[in-house]
Amino acid sequence: MKKIKLHDKIFEPFISEEKIDQAVSEVAKKITNKYEGKTPVFIGVLNGCFYFTADLLKKIDFDCEVSFVKVASYQGTQTTGNVRQLLGLDQKIKGRDVIIIEDIVDTGNTIEAVIEIITNMGVSSVAVATLLMKPDVYDKKVKIDYVALNIDPEFVVGYGLDYDGLGRNLNQLYVLSQAQNLKSDEDMLNIVLFGPPGAGKGTQAIKLKDKYNLVHLSTGDILRKEIGEGSELGTLAKSFMNKGELVPDGVVIDMIENCLNDYKDSNGFIFDGFPRTTEQAKALDNLLQKHDAGIDTMLSLEVDDEELVDRIVKRGKESGREDDKNESVIFNRIVTYNKKTSPLKSYYDEQGKYNSITGVGTVEEVFDRLITSIDS
Ligand code: AP5
Repeated sequence: MKKIKLHDKIFEPFISEEKIDQAVSEVAKKITNKYEGKTPVFIGVLNGCFYFTADLLKKIDFDCEVSFVKVASYQGTQTTGNVRQLLGLDQKIKGRDVIIIEDIVDTGNTIEAVIEIITNMGVSSVAVATLLMKPDVYDKKVKIDYVALNIDPEFVVGYGLDYDGLGRNLNQLYVLSQAQNLKSDEDMLNIVLFGPPGAGKGTQAIKLKDKYNLVHLSTGDILRKEIGEGSELGTLAKSFMNKGELVPDGVVIDMIENCLNDYKDSNGFIFDGFPRTTEQAKALDNLLQKHDAGIDTMLSLEVDDEELVDRIVKRGKESGREDDKNESVIFNRIVTYNKKTSPLKSYYDEQGKYNSITGVGTVEEVFDRLITSIDS
């Protein structure tokens, strides 16, 4: 069952239609045992009660009457404060057995007021049937006779209950999600595209992004953009990148955190050039966990050093990338990769996520190998 979005909030499946149906049947059975032969009046408290009232009454097969009310709160005199009244009660209920139907009872303020008003109308008896009850926050003495489902003090929608007008028509209950992102781990595809400089990460990431409808996050691209804009971050990054060294972990981790927040409704991410150290990999796992997600696969493009240098030198003639122009910088990027980044293969291998992919061949051949690995 998928999460849903109502207005600005994400809700996740909470109580299924089947469970609700069972619980409503139980309540109907208890009411039948008590009231059969008495012709009680059911009074539903709108708006939230309509679903529960309809389903409950479908399961009651003795004579009964049904009415609906709305609870109105209005400011009284300064001394009386909030006074409640019932709107829409057209039934004569004096001397009758009344069963009030509520969608939810939490602190009990509303139901206490409704019981008091109905009792004062001279009924023979009054009872309450509620779909949901929050026993941990209920603080009134009055007894709630029939409770279909007890729940923790959480915000729920569906089956008549709403969030700011929406959600009443959902035929099961949803709860406000702790992780306010739309996709759960099952819905997302998160890929770490790994490999030494020049292995083809950027080239393949663009193709994978299109195929799987993912967000491509390249820390190298983001840093180059900052450099281009002459930002403070760019100036800092430049001093490391132009030597072929890594930019400090804290800087890139913050960058990735911002990006994850910006694209929290995406189908998933291709991380290109990130993580590059164990600290970055751990930070990425923690960040994704906060979003109820994780890395699905780490695809490591394997290309020998000679080919890497050849590719980068070739690109450097046209790309204008500072770190492509100087062979000693290219060499240092490869050394840094072998020393600091390559050990991450064991980090992902231990999680069963490391997949080695031959990065030599045509771009299409490498792409086919990647998608075969992802789809399997
Ligand atoms: P980054 O931008 O990530 O560069 P890189 O890792 O050095 O990788 P490249 O962009 O050079 O290569 P690529 O694997 O993407 O291959 P591409 O597809 O371009 O990082 C740059 C710097 O930023 C780092 O050195 C560091 O200072 C800093 N940085 C970035 N992320 C960081 C982080 N997380 N932490 C700290 N610092 C960070 O292909 C290369 C060339 O080969 C292209 O010309 C392409 O056309 C060609 N090519 C691609 N595939 C093939 C193929 N199959 N056959 C022949 N040619 C091919």
